[in-house]
Amino acid sequence: MTSYGSFPGTRPRRLRVTPVMRRMVAETRLHPADLILPAFVREGIGEPAPIGAMPGVVQHTRDTLRKAAVEAAEAGVSGIMLFGVPEEAKKDAAGTAGTDPDGILQVAIRDVKAEVGDALAVMSDLCLDEYTDHGHCGVLDERGRVDNDATLERYAEMAQVQADAGVDVVGPSGMMDGQIGVVRDALDQTGHEDVAILAYTAKYSSAFYGPFREAVGSSLRGDRKTYQQDPANLRESMRELALDLEEGADMVMVKPAGPYLDVLARIADAVDVPVAAYQISGEYAMIEAAAEKGWIERDKAILEALTGIRRAGAKMILTYWATEAARWLR
Ligand code: PBG
Repeated sequence: MTSYGSFPGTRPRRLRVTPVMRRMVAETRLHPADLILPAFVREGIGEPAPIGAMPGVVQHTRDTLRKAAVEAAEAGVSGIMLFGVPEEAKKDAAGTAGTDPDGILQVAIRDVKAEVGDALAVMSDLCLDEYTDHGHCGVLDERGRVDNDATLERYAEMAQVQADAGVDVVGPSGMMDGQIGVVRDALDQTGHEDVAILAYTAKYSSAFYGPFREAVGSSLRGDRKTYQQDPANLRESMRELALDLEEGADMVMVKPAGPYLDVLARIADAVDVPVAAYQISGEYAMIEAAAEKGWIERDKAILEALTGIRRAGAKMILTYWATEAARWLR
């Protein structure tokens, strides 16, 4: 045998020889408690409605949402993030259904709380896009632009009705300037000091939200580039982070997750509050579609994607696979 000198002098492969050795030295572990299930509930339907671009995910009825919440809790998932889909006729320019105490999201919060109590942290999307007829995350001014400060007033009202309905955590996702501060004040002034804020801190204007727009029946005209971040920017996220913390965010989130792992890592290094990442609809759809074609191994790809998000620094992961993945991990 030819000799090539003393290499390899060190053999990292020794730690990879057996499954138990690999398990012992694994630096990242997924746990069901790190997972949060995003769920859609649609008003006025008798059967759950499949979402074409998200095979396996449905718009729930009030009943099937309750069941999904119980299943998630039983699997060890920690939280459920609720999105309401109102009847089409109830959408208007101001997103009135979003602040109606009997609006679908508020009803769903009460349903889930009544069903699972404190077995799950119940979270709610605090944003107007599901309720506006133009599909934007805020209200528009007379020139059709999203009016930041007028939107903040609507968010304050939303925070109060969601908290009145019994939510544990609100998730302001509209990327309006000052939204965390306004929501914190609104909660505190209405006796909801204990309701926590999961801030969508770094939220990018992403093509990967495509399937979600179908999931909530969004009628968005135009795009969200004047309020969501440019995918080109990283430093900007650090600025958003500083503001959200100053305004009172209890937890911060990066969204999407997979294409923004560098942002996640930077933020996780910089803060001492819990950090979450949202593996969004398009990330879900890509793996499901490739797996359906037989091009990748579905379950392994899911676990690898989740592990990558965890490794990059997310404590919590919002994922549509939460219940299924939690069962694998138990
Ligand atoms: C806004 C909101 C969106 C998502 C969560 N909250 C859509 C958007 O900003 O356009 C996307 C989630 C996903 O794609 O899975 N209410």
